[in-house]
Amino acid sequence: MTDVQLLNKLYFYVNLKTGLVLTKNQFGNLKIRLTRLLTDQAVNMENLDSVLDGNPALFESLLEEILINESYFFRNEDHFRVLRDIIFPVIIDKNHFQKDKRIRALSVGCSTGQEPLSILIAFAESNHTRDKIDFHIDAIDLSRKAILTALSAEYTKIQCRGLSPELKEKYFFRTKGDKLKPTATFLDNISYFHGNILSHELYEGCYDIIFARNTLIYFDDVNSERVKQKLIRAMKPGGYLFLGESEIGWGLGEKVQSMKFNQSIIYRKR
Ligand SMILES: C[S@@+](CC[C@H](N)C(=O)[O-])C[C@H]1O[C@@H](n2cnc3c(N)ncnc32)[C@H](O)[C@@H]1O
Repeated sequence: MTDVQLLNKLYFYVNLKTGLVLTKNQFGNLKIRLTRLLTDQAVNMENLDSVLDGNPALFESLLEEILINESYFFRNEDHFRVLRDIIFPVIIDKNHFQKDKRIRALSVGCSTGQEPLSILIAFAESNHTRDKIDFHIDAIDLSRKAILTALSAEYTKIQCRGLSPELKEKYFFRTKGDKLKPTATFLDNISYFHGNILSHELYEGCYDIIFARNTLIYFDDVNSERVKQKLIRAMKPGGYLFLGESEIGWGLGEKVQSMKFNQSIIYRKR
């Protein structure tokens, strides 16, 4: 048995359990760490399925090695400009006439929280003076480590990249450990969930805005399609879907139309 055969078997198991696929780049970087984790636990080709089935904690630590939690504030800044200057005012106007005071957003693959917080800041910065709006974001990630960081919401200098000095001053305070943390009332607008978007239940027709950026690329084609259709079902008619730059252009079917705002392609449910 070679390490490559063992890792191939692990990747097959990961795909079966989560729907994720691994890229060739990841294979190279992870090989040594994953092989060490497996051999330390006496996992081999013959017992891999039974050991991992019986040891969810080991499976989770392997998964944590595989998941890439790279994120930063206002990643693809244009998305947040469009959100603040065009989409929020449009939704607020529509809601005003329908006497609806709720706006709901979803961040899929929210990682350590910079994405939902950027959505929240964009909302706070948009011009909405007429109505008091109940705005809430649900945010989900498969990485427990990432969700725990998001819940603690204490960001180091590197984790704060993308945030301007003005926004830091306006929405964050400095902790004793010299990290930046948003105020508790601000954080109350986000609910974090640990889970796999493939199996996580979403209410149909619930969300005005969905961000699913740089997450669908980790799924195989069949599961990526399943997730996309699930997200479309979870959107309100007229809701907006934001994908990562490399995820744009994938067929989403007739239920959505693509729209170009500034430099960005954003999808709107019909
Ligand atoms: C590269 S990060 C992107 C973070 C953020 N959306 C952004 O664009 O900055 C991808 C995130 O998706 C999460 N992820 C991968 N597969 C997932 C799944 N099946 N369900 C939920 N989250 C998943 C990873 O744990 C990781 O935190």
